[in-house]
Amino acid sequence: MSSTLGTLLRVATFGESHCKGVGAVLEGCPPGMTLCEADIQPQLDRRRPGQSKLTTDRRESDRVTILSGVENGITLGTPIGLFVPNKDQRPGDYQEMRRIPRPSHADYTYQMKYGVRASSGGGRASARETIGRVAAGAVAEKMLGEVWGVDIVAWVSAIGDIAAGDVDGETINRRIVDGNLVRCPDGAAAARMEALVARIKEEKDSVGGIVTCVCRQVPAGWGEPVFDKLEAKLAQAMLSIPATKGFEVGSGFAGTRLKGSVHNDAFVAGAGRLSTRTNHSGGIQGGISNGESIVFRVAFKPPATIGLAQQTVDFDGNPVTLAAKGRHDPCVVPRAVPIVEAMTALVLGDFALRQCAVGGGR
Ligand SMILES: Cc1cc2nc3c(=O)[nH]c(=O)nc-3n(C[C@H](O)[C@H](O)[C@H](O)COP(=O)(O)O)c2cc1C
Repeated sequence: MSSTLGTLLRVATFGESHCKGVGAVLEGCPPGMTLCEADIQPQLDRRRPGQSKLTTDRRESDRVTILSGVENGITLGTPIGLFVPNKDQRPGDYQEMRRIPRPSHADYTYQMKYGVRASSGGGRASARETIGRVAAGAVAEKMLGEVWGVDIVAWVSAIGDIAAGDVDGETINRRIVDGNLVRCPDGAAAARMEALVARIKEEKDSVGGIVTCVCRQVPAGWGEPVFDKLEAKLAQAMLSIPATKGFEVGSGFAGTRLKGSVHNDAFVAGAGRLSTRTNHSGGIQGGISNGESIVFRVAFKPPATIGLAQQTVDFDGNPVTLAAKGRHDPCVVPRAVPIVEAMTALVLGDFALRQCAVGGGR
């Protein structure tokens, strides 16, 4: 039943899709940092539904309120409570789904686990849960940027079978990523992706995609050996995002096709530290950051709720045809970009504080 992540920087999220609101409690943020809602809102705006014709039509402004942990714009070192109200609920859209578990959604498994479940909207399995992550992640990101200069940027690198060309991970920024509706920096690929998602939405179907993320200026030494390896914690954080199906770091699965002589990242003398000529490791070796950019990819499935008729059975096993009502994303990856960035910031923020605790921080 864990809704908590982190060791020293700990986030707990709360809320269902159709309750009064959602949010997070963030513990461990150091005192004395300037913080206000305006620091958090931009990432929530990038996550919010209804932001473009390619996302769900649910209308939510998703305005965040800081409930606690901040006074006169300065963090107190106490738990930071973050709250966003749910406004545009339409539980009626889910009437039919009360007796029919949606194929590949979480209705069946929640019912089997608890014997009861939120009656509409997917409850905790809804993407609304990720609001708390994004709000808390924005705070972690502010800390990482101000103290260590860490810079995190994610973008859409594939939708369906359309893949973006090479993107320069050292120069990509959020302004470029937000240059089109699908958040893909390769303009030609983005245009094809937009057309694909629009067509899929028209067909009442859905499609998956991949988000790539780069983290620059992460100092060497973050991450713990063995079970709390940096890539293991990143994988856990990414695979906890709804609709994720895969995670790979650096060369990932493609690296299996290279020989060691090609794959090895040879060291070169750098300014004050060793750097590497290539970065197949994705900035992590032995579970610890090596000072190169951290690069990983996250695979998202086609969302489960589709308007197209599907043959399935109800909870009693009776054959039924389900054509889902309601407002749903035909493809989640454009909205998943700030969620991936947020989860990255929460993991790196935790390791930053853990490194300080062993005397290796600033
Ligand atoms: C940004 C975002 C938006 C999503 N929108 C929808 C949606 O509109 N309809 C849907 O069925 N699933 C949507 N999902 C996915 C579900 O939350 C998730 O697939 C479902 O709870 C099943 O969980 P699982 O993917 O962990 O198996 C979305 C996920 C994300 C990250």
